[in-house]
Amino acid sequence: MAIKVAVLVGSFRKDSINQQLAKALGKLGAGKFDFQILKIEELPFYNQDIDSGNPPAAAVKFRQDVAAADAVLIVTPEYNRSVPGVLANAIEWGSRPYGQGPILGKTGALIGASIGKIGTAVAQAHLRGAFGFLDMKVMGQPEAYITVTPGLFDANNDVTDASVKDFLSGFLAKFEAWVAKNK
Ligand code: FNR
Repeated sequence: MAIKVAVLVGSFRKDSINQQLAKALGKLGAGKFDFQILKIEELPFYNQDIDSGNPPAAAVKFRQDVAAADAVLIVTPEYNRSVPGVLANAIEWGSRPYGQGPILGKTGALIGASIGKIGTAVAQAHLRGAFGFLDMKVMGQPEAYITVTPGLFDANNDVTDASVKDFLSGFLAKFEAWVAKNK
């Protein structure tokens, strides 16, 4: 059965290279993985006041989707050498209620796309700190910092560069083994 993956993308703009990367991964991994890109942009800002008693519908759905997944995949840009707010916010929702948030202990992996050479390395390092605190089992290698040049992804979400495609296929093969071992 396909591995069910909740995909959290740290950008939701129309032409996001991280959305493109997430879709390209979904296509490359078809058959082995069932990728679901969650609509984290629909989550309100985390606030304990609105999370007590009767949390917003978007948060209830988000928590159900994360709980139902075998693993979480983060696909994110780096903002100001750190984590984009929309993604940090989703992780906050996933980490609560205290001691019971669906992201606690979850198996996962990280990848990110940038137009710069070292883009997303610092953001991913910050995320690893949070994920350690959340007892998550996050794949260590391969580290995946994808430098995106124009045309790397075509209109069908296919990867046009053979070496990048090979790297992404290897990343998914390792992720498949990682989930099987750590789920
Ligand atoms: C950026 N960008 C950026 N890139 C990077 O490699 N390191 C960084 O620290 C930052 N900081 C940053 C802050 C803000 C507010 C913005 C809007 C952008 C550039 C970023 O990598 C680029 O815009 C990507 O295209 C964003 O990803 P999406 O939206 O295309 O997925």
